[in-house]
Amino acid sequence: MCGIVGYVGEQSAVDVVVAGLRRLEYRGYDSAGVAILDGTTLQVERKAGKLANLDEVLANRSLPGTLGIGHTRWATHGPPNDANAHPHVDCAGAVAVVHNGTIENFEELVAGLGERGHARRSDTDTEAVAHLVEECYDGDLAAAVRTVCKQLEGSFVLVVAHRDEPGLIVAARRNLPLVIGLGDGENFVGSDVTAFIAHTRTARAVEQDQVVEVRRTGVQVTDLDGVVVEGETYHVDWDTDAAEKGGYEFFMLKEIQEQPDAVRDTLGGRLTPEGLLHLDELAMSDQDIRGIDQVVIIACGSSYHSGLVGKYAIERWCRLPVHVEMASEFRYRDPVVGRSTLVIAISQSGETADTLEALRHAREQRAWVLAVTNTIGSTISRESDAALYTRAGPEVAVASTKAVMAQLAAMYVVGLYLAQVRGTRDADEVRAHMHDLQEIPDLITELIGRMEPVRELARSLKDAQRVLFLGRHVGYPMALEGALKLKELAYISAEGFPAGEIKHGPIALIEQGTPVVILAPRHALQAKLINNIQEVRARGARTIVVATDGDDSVLPYADDVIWIPDTKSLLTPLLTIVPMQVLSAEVAAARGLDVDQPRNLAKSVTVE
Ligand code: M6R
Repeated sequence: MCGIVGYVGEQSAVDVVVAGLRRLEYRGYDSAGVAILDGTTLQVERKAGKLANLDEVLANRSLPGTLGIGHTRWATHGPPNDANAHPHVDCAGAVAVVHNGTIENFEELVAGLGERGHARRSDTDTEAVAHLVEECYDGDLAAAVRTVCKQLEGSFVLVVAHRDEPGLIVAARRNLPLVIGLGDGENFVGSDVTAFIAHTRTARAVEQDQVVEVRRTGVQVTDLDGVVVEGETYHVDWDTDAAEKGGYEFFMLKEIQEQPDAVRDTLGGRLTPEGLLHLDELAMSDQDIRGIDQVVIIACGSSYHSGLVGKYAIERWCRLPVHVEMASEFRYRDPVVGRSTLVIAISQSGETADTLEALRHAREQRAWVLAVTNTIGSTISRESDAALYTRAGPEVAVASTKAVMAQLAAMYVVGLYLAQVRGTRDADEVRAHMHDLQEIPDLITELIGRMEPVRELARSLKDAQRVLFLGRHVGYPMALEGALKLKELAYISAEGFPAGEIKHGPIALIEQGTPVVILAPRHALQAKLINNIQEVRARGARTIVVATDGDDSVLPYADDVIWIPDTKSLLTPLLTIVPMQVLSAEVAAARGLDVDQPRNLAKSVTVE
């Protein structure tokens, strides 16, 4: 959580830094602030609330200077007010610090600082860092930051500027992401590459406990003892336009539209001339793949729902047991994983702390960990044994859409590849499934083009108190996803259930008019689903049925129908998910809510 930018170059720093913050705002929007150094004048501006509030402040201020740092906050220590907004400064206003993370020993540090006469002006853990740098500084900012980092416990990315070092910013990292952007006569640091891709595509990831000195002319990375460390750069091929709204009212609506490409690109380049799959990214020998005796999928939120769909596909095609675990619970219950376990860690951001800690635990047990992530160079991709990148491009809206879609496509590919290598599906069948998958992008495009009835439906649900989502088989994870989306975007109480489970308790929630969305595409279990629709309808539910084009069997029991194109039943999540996304976004919009930045959330959840 929290987005961080640092810039040293020749352009107006405030412009570059604020533009970077705009792209990072998805990481937190409780407050925003900048510190700009012009010669030896250090000016700080910060404001509670979204970046737009800081924009208003900056509109009336002149902040010249070509060196700057900036921050967009997701509050941990202290409420989201002006005083707790970053950057934080030392007693003399000479040092400015922005911070992402949690300093676990800050109370002890603050007590010591108080005894030594430092006045505290905020509730944050970050302010302690500014005062510690003040104490340690004797003309070498990087040395001071290294000394301070050794005193800190917990997780942090820090970016520090000092008014006595006009051409330098110093950044440091432990456990949280920090990327360097290498430009021409200008250099950057950011929480992720979107902070600077408008200026440079050459990036370098900062590793654990490294300190970076960023000057206009170059960048030097050291460890905490000041020993210079080399590292590799990589090219970022994300399209800058993808991180802009491009005429849409919300990023989420644009990202929904981008889903056909997300699937196409994730499937692309995976077939041999013989029409078979190759998945070199898995980096496992065929022999090791044949030796896998279980698959464990770890993920959070919507990524967890993609994992659940992966379970149905892998079990069906590979006849392997698959366990899907919420990453936040995984390592605390002593899970049974070992050398012959394939662990798949799914994460759009590649930075989710729960998933990262779970995969670290799995690796300690000697399992092989495959990251399925959308973010090249992310911590989860670097700490896994192998990484399969979903190719959804940058996703800005907090509610994940195209990245989840790409994860679903990736899970089908992984399942089919394992089946091919293990010989549980023959070549013809693999080809046939790939053919079906390759038809999906066009079906999504068609489906997106007929969402007007869903928008109308959304308007009619705007005052609902509670909405239930039901599904069977692969419809169940998508029911969970539909409920999560509605909760996070529209703040409506929503629950997803396996349709067969509802009679064991949840049916008591149904009152006259309670909306119940039932995912009922054509499927072997459809007759049972129709029974479930009747059960809830008999108790007064308003039934909203997602059904396959031309399937009239649901009509007698549906108050509203959302039609989707036909595909193989195992692949239906790639289609049923679309109306769930549109519905939640439109209900939120109808309620006057911020679709891209729902309250209390952040896109990249880097705290446990
Ligand atoms: O970056 P990740 O995929 O690891 O994020 C996991 C969840 O935080 C994420 O899917 C979250 O549930 C989204 N807000 C859902 O829209």
